[in-house]
Amino acid sequence: MIVSIIGTGYVGLVTGACLASRGHRVRCVDISRERVDAIRAGRVPFYEPGLEALLEDGLASGRLSATSDLAAAISGSEVSIIAVGTPAKGDKPDLSYVQAAAAQIGAALRSHRGYHVVAVKSTVAPGTTSSLVKNTIEAESGLSAGRFGLCMNPEFLREGCAVEDFMNPDRIVIGQWDSRAGDCAEALYDSFECPKLRMSLEEAELTKYASNSLLSTLISYSNELAALCEATPGADIDTVFQGLHLDRRLNPIQGSGRVNPEILAYLRAGIGFGGSCLPKDVNALRVYGQSKGIPVPVLDAVMSTNLRRPEQIVNLAERALDGLPGKTIALLGLAFKAGTDDLRTSPALSILSLLKSRGARVRGYDRMISAQAASTLHLDHYTGDLEGALDSADAAVLTLADPTLAQLDWGRLAARMRSPVLIDGRNALRGVPLPEAVRYYPIGRGGLFPEPASAANPA
Ligand code: NAD
Ligand code: UGA
Repeated sequence: MIVSIIGTGYVGLVTGACLASRGHRVRCVDISRERVDAIRAGRVPFYEPGLEALLEDGLASGRLSATSDLAAAISGSEVSIIAVGTPAKGDKPDLSYVQAAAAQIGAALRSHRGYHVVAVKSTVAPGTTSSLVKNTIEAESGLSAGRFGLCMNPEFLREGCAVEDFMNPDRIVIGQWDSRAGDCAEALYDSFECPKLRMSLEEAELTKYASNSLLSTLISYSNELAALCEATPGADIDTVFQGLHLDRRLNPIQGSGRVNPEILAYLRAGIGFGGSCLPKDVNALRVYGQSKGIPVPVLDAVMSTNLRRPEQIVNLAERALDGLPGKTIALLGLAFKAGTDDLRTSPALSILSLLKSRGARVRGYDRMISAQAASTLHLDHYTGDLEGALDSADAAVLTLADPTLAQLDWGRLAARMRSPVLIDGRNALRGVPLPEAVRYYPIGRGGLFPEPASAANPA
């Protein structure tokens, strides 16, 4: 099929390159000339494993091209996929990019021959596709829905394994205006083996929000439990989770072993969720609930617990160092999670501003981040060199669940610090033998500090 993809960010470019690898002819469209030029030159403008190779293959085969001329891209194509950003604007998603893309597609459809399906892949609130997107295309094209196809086809990929997720989907969700549109959108995914669910446009929009809200809820629940353990001498979140994770309903027994579903990764203590989607999507669903007069206290609590978490990590550092003013902290990890260079809504950056507001000097380190990206942050110093970040530091705060951290020689690294204090925001070093001199503060463990006399014996 001939497909236009509008927007070449994480979702658009991954979708384009993967569909081209499955034999479709894909035209990638972006308003950013810089992005279009980079794609044409085979350069991926962000870090995503495996994407550059797919992009090169697509360009070499002639099945993938990039342009900033949307009308030319749509001409002769059967499907266009809207994959522009829907960033947070306050608590709501900013739909102006989706609206602008829909208007441009509508205008292009005026002179388009044949049936054309517009599929919204951007994450949008229930009702957006059947109102804002449909009305805009109708107004600009002079066609009514049905004469053009309309679908909502949410994306579930994760940054850092986006290509893998797209190529091996667990499900493909297609919300449809009518079955003709749905059939056409589904044909795009003929070569993908997984359940393909057809539903209403609104159900597809809600399925996407429901998915991200569930992940966020698990994370906040985990962090709330971690905070309870931190306040309970003798309690350790990792032990509590061991007990929880072995519930056969969460982790089914298979033969003599366990399935260990990936969802258990979201039932772990951490520094709170971030990134370009989870916080924005939970907030968008809250606002949607409010607009319908439906209370959503669970989602409210998910957000407020998440907002509190960076502060709990900074409190741990403050107690470990007996105050933060004048102290130098090495902040190890700036991106919103391990394996990406994406800084959007990173909880590590909330930790950074809290540390600074309490008088600490902060040295940032992240091997994925470019010095240019780091220069936009309010760090006292940035380095791509871990040892340099630790030199004469009073403490290090680890913010990434990066398995390579456990393989480092912490004896040698800690020796570079003024005081070898490690605050482990992801429990990445749990179980790693550390030299005796290191003062190690994991999260979710009670009794790290002496209790005030009145609290020590509640009975
Ligand atoms: P992004 O911000 O990385 O990229 C958006 C791109 O769209 C930019 O390159 C921008 O220049 C371009 N653009 C904006 N308006 C345009 C227009 N009128 N015509 C052509 N190009 C235009 O966004 P993203 O992270 O890829 O997310 C896109 C959508 O997918 C969002 O709604 C997001 O919530 C959702 N989503 C994101 C992820 C993820 O992992 N990032 C996963 C699933 C869903
Ligand atoms: C998430 C979802 O996992 C994807 O399914 C979805 O498509 C995407 O959002 C989206 O809509 O954009 P992503 O943001 O790439 O993908 O990252 P995740 O790996 O899910 O992590 C999200 C956040 O939760 C990160 O800040 C991460 O550090 C945090 N997290 C994750 C935890 O704090 N604890 C965990 O146990 C797991």
